[in-house]
Amino acid sequence: METLTEMMKKVLADTFAMYLKSHNYHWNVEGSNFPQYHDFFGNLYQELHGAVDPIAEQIRALDSYAPGSFTRFMELTEIEDELNVPLGTDMARKLLSDNQTVISTLNVTLKLAEQFDQQGLMDFLAGRIDIHSKHAWMLRSISK
Ligand SMILES: [Fe+2]
Repeated sequence: METLTEMMKKVLADTFAMYLKSHNYHWNVEGSNFPQYHDFFGNLYQELHGAVDPIAEQIRALDSYAPGSFTRFMELTEIEDELNVPLGTDMARKLLSDNQTVISTLNVTLKLAEQFDQQGLMDFLAGRIDIHSKHAWMLRSISK
């Protein structure tokens, strides 16, 4: 069960890292397509931000503490921190790659939830995979 809890913490850290990067891009994107990028990253960060709380509460339901610090998130996630201001298309490409990282983490976690017969959590994770697949479609389309 501890492996499942640890993976859920990774789901939280990955989601938070992707949330923060899309919010950063929403603030800082520039160029002639500014309104489209600004709005797209705006919708993306809001969706991800909305997911962070339910993920943390799932961890509490597993009777573990939810990580909530930059130090712990950096330890848990493989998503790279953004320190620069890339071009809009590069922002979309980076988020597409990060989105794949989140999907991989979610897939591993879903298999573990299945092993431990956590039906509710399986449902929740399947829902997140579905939403991230939609993010992938949009980010792929924007990156071209
Ligand atoms: Fe804003």
